[in-house]
Amino acid sequence: MTIETKTKSYVFQKKISEKGLICVGAKNDGMYLVLEDPATGEQKVVLDGVSGAAVCSLGHTDPEITSQFSKWASESPYTFGAYYGNNSAEDLGEFMCNRSNGAFESCLWTQSGSEATENAIKLMRQYHLERGDGKRYKIISRLQSYHGFTIGALSVGDGTRKPPFKPILLSDEQTPKMPQLYPYRDWKEGMTEEEYTNHLLEQAEKVFIDNDPSTISGVIVETVGGSTIGTPTPPKGYLDGLKALCHKYGALFMLDEVMCGLGRCGYDFTWMHPEFGLTTGGPDLLSVGKTIGSGFVTLAGLFFSPKFCKTFNEGTGYIMGGQTYHSHAFTCRVGLAVQQKIVRDNLVENVRVVGGYMKEQLKEQLKDCKIAGDVRGAGNFLSVEAVKDKATKESFDPKLAVGPTLHKRIFDKGVIVMGANGTTGYEYQGLTDVTCFGDHVTMGPAFTTTKEHADIIIKAVVEAFYELEKELL
Ligand SMILES: Cc1ncc(COP(=O)(O)O)c(C=O)c1O
Repeated sequence: MTIETKTKSYVFQKKISEKGLICVGAKNDGMYLVLEDPATGEQKVVLDGVSGAAVCSLGHTDPEITSQFSKWASESPYTFGAYYGNNSAEDLGEFMCNRSNGAFESCLWTQSGSEATENAIKLMRQYHLERGDGKRYKIISRLQSYHGFTIGALSVGDGTRKPPFKPILLSDEQTPKMPQLYPYRDWKEGMTEEEYTNHLLEQAEKVFIDNDPSTISGVIVETVGGSTIGTPTPPKGYLDGLKALCHKYGALFMLDEVMCGLGRCGYDFTWMHPEFGLTTGGPDLLSVGKTIGSGFVTLAGLFFSPKFCKTFNEGTGYIMGGQTYHSHAFTCRVGLAVQQKIVRDNLVENVRVVGGYMKEQLKEQLKDCKIAGDVRGAGNFLSVEAVKDKATKESFDPKLAVGPTLHKRIFDKGVIVMGANGTTGYEYQGLTDVTCFGDHVTMGPAFTTTKEHADIIIKAVVEAFYELEKELL
């Protein structure tokens, strides 16, 4: 076989014609991936510091779960949701709602976070129709946010991946944007936390007022932002204030916890976080994904509050439309087992403890690094923002692609993290001409991560930052 035959790809992802590295297995409790170069057959074993894309809550393998797959598959005939349900979807819904302190009473299980966002946009619209309020169709969200890559999801999101597709997305009029939530840059010196919160809420209210509040269907924000902006946590009172604002104007309040939720930030739901969460119960809708099935299955979903359900129950009682693989029995059965294990083994607490240790160590070990501008995040969902000047917070020249460079450096040291650019914003000139401002790396290892694993991740990140400091300053 020629090298070209060995490396030719038949999968339409990343570089179309080349396989690139291929994952051929996992090792050591699923914490390490084995990646093979198809051209040479050479293998590299790397510690996954970001569990794929903040997905694998139990790591990449878990024999306790995967050994049951054959049994669960044989017990899971396909069910078409429009005609009949299945107990696995019901059991997963009940188990998850029971962890929500009464915030939710029903769930819709989808295959991806993007699909959850699409369904949310549609169901919010139906909610208002059920109440005889057909004027509401706009969704407010934030700049520098991500809610998925399908048309509706990309429309409510913002970031470097969006501009080429703008002509085929929902209009700006349908999807007004609030400014980004970015305490590192926007919480100005001298401002108290309360003042900063009020400032954000004033900005949010202005968006309502400027866009005719009676036409707003809902607001969607990430509780803790993800890959686009690198895990900024909101100030105290912000989420409560935003929820109150939505309700003042008759709109729904939705949180997206696809990336940051279900334990990733150290609590069952991230809106429960004692430092910045809601103190007034949950949101009206919540999206989840990624960790729910630990990447063993393609599972995501939506949670609905009692108020949301009541409106449907007092109206038509039905949701309009559905998708073939909604609430799929086998994926829900696996998701239930993953979630039961997370609860049984107290893994959310482990995220809090080991994640807390990681954050503290990163702050301590990077305090003298001139290019480590900010260490932020919650639980083990952590980021370090790279800057050229710590005092002015000036970012590096986009041409240096510092985020992707850090990614590669850290990978070469045997650890996978997400290294990204576009943290502070972007300018789009053409398909191959997008300028991405600002850089960060994000971590989010498995919930089973030990302090020993954490030390390996921290060492690689810290070394890469100091190396780049030497080279770039
Ligand atoms: C906050 C958030 N919402 C939605 C999505 C979309 O999820 P998926 O990639 O499963 O479609 C993502 C994916 O990264 C995400 O981070």
